[in-house]
Amino acid sequence: MVQRRVLVVSRHSEIQQFGRRFAQEVLVADDIAEAMDIAATVEPDLILLDGVPRPVEIRSFLDATDNNCRPAIVVIGTDGAGADCFSQFAQSGRLYFLSSVNDSDRLQQILGSIQIRSQSGQPAGANGFFADDLAASVSMAGKSKAILHTIKMIKLVAGSNCNPVLITGETGTGKELVAKAVHTYRHPNGPFVAVNCAALTANLLESELFGHAKGSFTSADKEKSGLLELAGEGSIFLDEISEMPLDLQAKLLRVLQEKTFRKVGGISDVVCKATIMASSNRDLRSEVQANRFRRDLYYRLNICPISIAPLASAGRRADIRLLAEFFLKTSTVCPGKAEKITSFTEMALEAIEQHNWPGNVRELRNVIDRAILLETTDKIGLSSILIDTQDFDQLDSVAPEPSANSFAATPDFSLDKAERQLIARALQESGWQKTRAAALLGITRATLYAKVKQHNIQRGTYLSKNSLDESPCSAQSEHAAVA
Ligand SMILES: Nc1ncnc2c1ncn2[C@@H]1O[C@H](COP(=O)(O)OP(=O)(O)OP(=O)(O)O)[C@@H](O)[C@H]1O
Ligand SMILES: [Mg+2]
Repeated sequence: MVQRRVLVVSRHSEIQQFGRRFAQEVLVADDIAEAMDIAATVEPDLILLDGVPRPVEIRSFLDATDNNCRPAIVVIGTDGAGADCFSQFAQSGRLYFLSSVNDSDRLQQILGSIQIRSQSGQPAGANGFFADDLAASVSMAGKSKAILHTIKMIKLVAGSNCNPVLITGETGTGKELVAKAVHTYRHPNGPFVAVNCAALTANLLESELFGHAKGSFTSADKEKSGLLELAGEGSIFLDEISEMPLDLQAKLLRVLQEKTFRKVGGISDVVCKATIMASSNRDLRSEVQANRFRRDLYYRLNICPISIAPLASAGRRADIRLLAEFFLKTSTVCPGKAEKITSFTEMALEAIEQHNWPGNVRELRNVIDRAILLETTDKIGLSSILIDTQDFDQLDSVAPEPSANSFAATPDFSLDKAERQLIARALQESGWQKTRAAALLGITRATLYAKVKQHNIQRGTYLSKNSLDESPCSAQSEHAAVA
């Protein structure tokens, strides 16, 4: 088991608590000088720094603590401040920037690559999960044809002056990760600010984006900078742009054309130098046809779109197994337990590969987290792979593909049958080793014998694709009862 040791250089209890969520051992230093003393003796895996350290401090810290690419240093800034330091030392591969303590997703990804690095002794980009260093820098795992094409597009677009950048793909395919990759490639020096257009009311979204002048509305008691301004010479990511109200779409179009905007109630133009990225999991063309999205804005956005393939598509399917293993290695859902689980059983992997993943990578990640919570042995088995029974496909009235081993496809919810199925599977998976099957099921051997007898389960029994009905095996079956 990998024990994580984190050194927190901060007087804020919030940041110290944040560190405790991700590590078994947390040490605290008041300042960088004290941290260097501690790091020289205890060799932490990760150092969390808050505030905005000076580059010279970062440089001496990196020099003083380099021990085979460890520890990684995470600077927790506020509102993008501190990103300058990140860019300057990006080459070190050890310095990361986290916008706030609320970005625990990103810290999980960072911890993942640190853990992988510590196991392989190599930089994250060189190990088996990432196609290249850019993908590794944003923890975008995958080597399928589709993801290689996406990475090629990211570099092509990010290396050009293309602005705005549109990123499309079904929910959970990794649009925000792609936006971060474009940003990292194009503006390693600048801040990355993201806003979800679906999460705010029209007025709030306008004021968030453009800012407002003092007195422009009742509660505007002082002038406020908007996200377009805060993005500076970095990137602004407009998530779920299809949900932006039509009148705001017109204002955004003006920004894209003029590269200037006005604060709400303001009288002067502010220049916008940021790369504007937008994402959508809806088909914007259909939104245009339905008069929910402005045609001119659609054409303005759609210069060189980066589209991400669904996880279960032919070109990306090859990544499912790799991503499952990546999430097993990097999950922080259950510290102390996840590291004890080393792999999957072949049947579990098959079930994962056969599912059609309507929630894409996010859904896969959740299923792996859930499996880690449920698993009681050192290998994730089929019984721990519980794929959501509320298949998202059904919400869209599209018949879901039957999934061979998932409970999602179960039409019959009889507990008795489910128990019979589970026991048969445990026996099958354990190669009919009763002690192991009982352990898999979390019951005693005696109970297993009783249940096998009760359900009349025989060796060679198999379960049909999408129901709990079972049929005896073909000619080769041994038809030997357990007891
Ligand atoms: N290639 C990948 N490697 C590792 N993790 C990934 C990958 N793609 C996506 N993820 C993870 O899956 C989750 C969803 O990704 P992301 O938020 O980028 O998707 P999205 O397309 O923006 O989703 P939505 O449409 O719901 O906003 C995140 O936790 C992200 O880190
Ligand atoms: Mg998103």
